[in-house]
Amino acid sequence: MAEELIISKGSSKEELYKTLYPQLESLVENEDDLIANMANITSALKETFDFFWVGFYRVVGDRLVLGPFQGPIACTNIAFGKGVCGKSWKEEKTIIVPDVDKFPGHIACSSMSRSEIVVPILKENKVIAVLDVDSDKLYSFDETDAYYLEKISLLL
Ligand code: SME
Repeated sequence: MAEELIISKGSSKEELYKTLYPQLESLVENEDDLIANMANITSALKETFDFFWVGFYRVVGDRLVLGPFQGPIACTNIAFGKGVCGKSWKEEKTIIVPDVDKFPGHIACSSMSRSEIVVPILKENKVIAVLDVDSDKLYSFDETDAYYLEKISLLL
């Protein structure tokens, strides 16, 4: 594994994802442990994009439980269907929230969070976790983030 993450500073969002993806591929290819891989993915995403918060919630029984993350402390439990994360789990689809104040039922782990994207992670057709990324700016996420974060989540 490379010791240092290569970040093409000053590049477009797409270029940043394109530089990051193969590095993530090699980071996870020799490791089977889900938590270890989630941990490195959150670190690499945070370093590359300086997102406010990046983390995983794992499905444990009937709730989502906080997993590896980078950023401020966060809520530890989210019920099925609740908040953006619970909704992404229930609907098994990526949800982009341009303005968290306009999302009914949004769970505010931090009042600094302004926009958010949540990607479900499926194994054998079942959601096993979600990847949640928060920004302290409005309208931070779009289809490019959805495309690459979904692709990244398939590495797990
Ligand atoms: N905002 C999320 C909760 C998790 S935190 O953002 C880290 C939600 O509404 O599900």
